[in-house]
Amino acid sequence: MTVQEIFETMDYGSAPESAGDALAWLVDQGDRFGHFIDGRMTDPGDVFESRNPADGDVLAHLSQATQSDVDAAVAAARKAQGKWEKLGGSGRARYLYALARLLQKHSRLFAVLETLDNGKPIRESRDIDIPLAQRHFYYHAGQAQLFDSVCAGRVAHGVCGQVIPWNFPLLMLAWKVAPALAAGNTVVLKPAEYTSLTALLFADLCRQAGLPKGVVNIVTGDGAVGEMVVTHPDVDKVAFTGSTAVGRRIRVATAGSGKALTLELGGKSPYIVFEDADLDSAVEGLVDAIWFNQGQVCCAGSRLLVQEGAADRFYGKLRARMDKLRVGSPMDKSIDVGAIVDPVQLQTIQRLVDGNTAGETYQSAAALPESGCFYPPTLITGLSPADPLMQEEIFGPVLVGTTFRTPSEAVELANNTRYGLAATVWSENINVALDIAPKLAAGVVWVNGTNMFDAAAPFGGVRESGFGREGGPEGMMAYTKPAVTAKALSRVVGFSSGPDAEPQAVDRTAKLYIDGKQARPDGGYAYDVFTKTGKLIGQAPLANRKDVRNAVEAARGAKAWAGTTAHLRAQILYYIAENLAARKDEFAARLNQMTGARSGAKEVDVSVNRLFTYAAWADKYDGRVAQVPLRGVALAMREPCGVIAALCPDEHPLLGLVSLMAPAIAMGNRVILVASEPFPLAATDFYQVLDTSDVPGGVVNILTGRHDELAPTLASHMDLEAVWSFSSSDLSAEIERGAAENLKRTWVNHGRGRDWFGTEGEGAVFLDAATEVKTVWVPYGA
Ligand code: NAI
Repeated sequence: MTVQEIFETMDYGSAPESAGDALAWLVDQGDRFGHFIDGRMTDPGDVFESRNPADGDVLAHLSQATQSDVDAAVAAARKAQGKWEKLGGSGRARYLYALARLLQKHSRLFAVLETLDNGKPIRESRDIDIPLAQRHFYYHAGQAQLFDSVCAGRVAHGVCGQVIPWNFPLLMLAWKVAPALAAGNTVVLKPAEYTSLTALLFADLCRQAGLPKGVVNIVTGDGAVGEMVVTHPDVDKVAFTGSTAVGRRIRVATAGSGKALTLELGGKSPYIVFEDADLDSAVEGLVDAIWFNQGQVCCAGSRLLVQEGAADRFYGKLRARMDKLRVGSPMDKSIDVGAIVDPVQLQTIQRLVDGNTAGETYQSAAALPESGCFYPPTLITGLSPADPLMQEEIFGPVLVGTTFRTPSEAVELANNTRYGLAATVWSENINVALDIAPKLAAGVVWVNGTNMFDAAAPFGGVRESGFGREGGPEGMMAYTKPAVTAKALSRVVGFSSGPDAEPQAVDRTAKLYIDGKQARPDGGYAYDVFTKTGKLIGQAPLANRKDVRNAVEAARGAKAWAGTTAHLRAQILYYIAENLAARKDEFAARLNQMTGARSGAKEVDVSVNRLFTYAAWADKYDGRVAQVPLRGVALAMREPCGVIAALCPDEHPLLGLVSLMAPAIAMGNRVILVASEPFPLAATDFYQVLDTSDVPGGVVNILTGRHDELAPTLASHMDLEAVWSFSSSDLSAEIERGAAENLKRTWVNHGRGRDWFGTEGEGAVFLDAATEVKTVWVPYGA
């Protein structure tokens, strides 16, 4: 080809990266890998092949871990944990820093190995995956150094079981391992079966860094090994990234075990383009949103919503850009779209696209390699919101789209999904963009940019995209727990009728409190409440499934509460406190009468004080601004979870209820509280306090009845965002299992008691449980 011809065609030549060093490393390892347990590689066991999806070549043979391998890895992690934690934050920081440095030093080897194993373009592994993984270790070296101040009062969970997917193999390892180690945990990590090689290379770095034996353990194999890791009785915390279906299984498998759990799951993230957007930038954004990593990204902008007036123009530009994308050998530095991770995933994509008959399908004119796992960039427009491809995660280079007219329609369409991982908004109008961002049901929102990540910016979802955050101090919270001494939960039961019980003089049957009004229970049944000496003092309704439904409906209707100012919420909490204080004697007497104790007056005082505390917090538990190394800032906003149902502590009928209600409503949630089962009458007296304190109807709803009967109904209710349980019956297993259905947040006591009068009964852990972090990336500065 002459120079003139090159100028005329402007074709790219190929610019292949050498695979030599990575292949040599594989040969050096003997081609068959064991597991990394207690600081050394074990002998290979039953092996399976790890292939390069671009050409089908076998890269290595990996061992399928057995139960005894997993046991050995967990035992090694357990043995190492105490010493690792005692090393202190600054001691651990040195190792994290060493790992970051080694990752940087061997970055090219990691990038090449990642691309060979996963099929992602070398440009991406070199410029995105590996630098972000390094950044994660550097950032968490800092988190370890500052551990005592950033995580004051918190300690490590212990042994973490971590299971990661194949789309960002080393990066997901970094997201999991770095914060866990920084906090003083040890880990057993299982990489995805398609892509374990960079994890095994990382094991080598752990040895080079002199990391104490057993701090990091890596076992390879398929989902069965993942299951062994997450269900292992000696694992204290489970962190998973992968499909929603598997996340749900893990929620069920770990229910009631007391293991802490975070789940980063799937998504169908909207990519919203307003007609005033810079359309060319928005098209470039889409390249990063859906063709980055062949669309195999949990937060991929896979659902395009474009404003009607700009739709034709935008689609035209988009198709033209799609035709210019180069699909081919991932090792070629000028390739945009590489190989799909495995033939199985390719078939899934083909099946989903081929099964669709709706809308119009456009596939890029780019030539595909003749063999290997490749799929063309694809755009399907004109779909209706209910079409399966608008709802299902395809996890491939396939963008589906529809149009909208108004901003509110855009929000409605964007939120019309069971997922809530990320969202992107393009508009040159700051008012539109920043008005939309808080209305989107998503854990991350990018304004005029997309798929931006940083170790300082929390990442994670809402709804069926999972719970928990990775990155930033919020991510450190997930790898720590409050340092409190364990106290066994003891069951509190009500008193029964005594031999000298007098018949009741007046009918004191309390009612339920729903939508700001007293309501008769649907079933018409009530239960007796007696004093310690067996005297009947009243009756409380037995709420049933229908009453739960009514309470949830009322709470959903009170949505405006989330939009009130924090100042107003504080005022109302002060007002409740004042009104309760005014009736102190009456409440104190009632508490003493019900519980047979003499602590009623103290309980009222502490309850009033607690209301004051959360009135104070209402406008002070703010988000923060994360410094990210890009032209922008990431706002970590604290949003209310939504509607929270809480089974209140039985032992302190008033303080327990106030301790759950106040932080929840202070943060803008609406609540359904199930009163103390043995001593429900302080809650039913409390209605009058709420009524006189300007609490809008539906914000606080109170039910009475059997905790064990109501817990499963609440746990599986599809319209609740969270369920808490501090009942003295340990209902953790039922609640966590039931919550798997819509992956709602749970906060349960796992059989552990709590000192409700002391500092354990209030504070940041309550506010944290009552909020969800939304990370909003906005352009800022030049
Ligand atoms: P997956 O969720 O099955 O695999 C992720 C990880 O979980 C792997 O390490 C796997 O071995 C492990 N695993 C599988 N079953 C397990 C179990 N019962 N207990 C514990 N660990 C288990 O994802 P898969 O099958 O590779 O991909 C299927 C679909 O999942 C994709 O088409 C995509 O839609 C979605 N996906 C989503 C990801 C995300 O980041 N949100 C990542 C990977 C896949």
